Amino acid sequence: MRKYIVAGNWKMNTTVAEGVELAKAVAAKAQDLPANVQLVVAPPFTHLVSVAEALKGSKVALSAQNCADHEKGAYTGEVAVNMLVDAGCQYTILGHSERRQYYGETDEKLVVKTKLALAAGLKVILCVGENLDEREAGKHFDVVTEQTKAVLYELSAEELKSIVVAYEPVWAIGTGKTATAAQAEEIHACIRTVIAEKFGLEAADDMTILYGGSCKPSNAKELFAEKDIDGGLIGGAALKADDFIAIAASF
Ligand code: PGA
Repeated sequence: MRKYIVAGNWKMNTTVAEGVELAKAVAAKAQDLPANVQLVVAPPFTHLVSVAEALKGSKVALSAQNCADHEKGAYTGEVAVNMLVDAGCQYTILGHSERRQYYGETDEKLVVKTKLALAAGLKVILCVGENLDEREAGKHFDVVTEQTKAVLYELSAEELKSIVVAYEPVWAIGTGKTATAAQAEEIHACIRTVIAEKFGLEAADDMTILYGGSCKPSNAKELFAEKDIDGGLIGGAALKADDFIAIAASF
């Protein structure tokens, strides 16, 4: 059964106190959402323990925004998957375009991180998406297919069950420029086909595929109405509890 997810990527925003307040507001309003919609929030590392506490007893799951590519040891500044589990995370985002673009995250590294996260019991929200040049050159299907295969084809069928894919066209992130529902849907359908080719139709059908990139209350309904769009990875609009909940209520 496919799960619907609306995940908030807070990026490098909020103080701990602001994050706790935001998490509490989201948790309080989450009670009224349909049972088949899972909410997830992904605060900065420093907030995880406090936000986990704020979310206790709620229907909102906790995610990190990244993890280390090693289990433990002398890796200054990194945070290991076991530490994320210990802090109360159920998910981690991996491969966000900002990590790929600014921090040199490669597909090879993402395979390592994904395997470590899954082995630790985390679910992974794996981001894929083309940039503007690639879209204008008509390469968007190829880029997304390659990024999807590069990580997912290294996994077992069992591991795949703990993956959520997020399609985030880089040109739509934080720009106010959303992909149209039709543009998003054709890429989501393509991702599902890529998954089906290796893992079969049932596994592909079960996969949750999120859309991300300037998703907000005013456009979420149209996006989520598409048959292959199973929710959203929300940046800016996730920093306001009312907007985030309104997006989740768009199903
Ligand atoms: P945005 O960010 O909603 O602010 O465009 C989405 C994301 O980067 O996950």
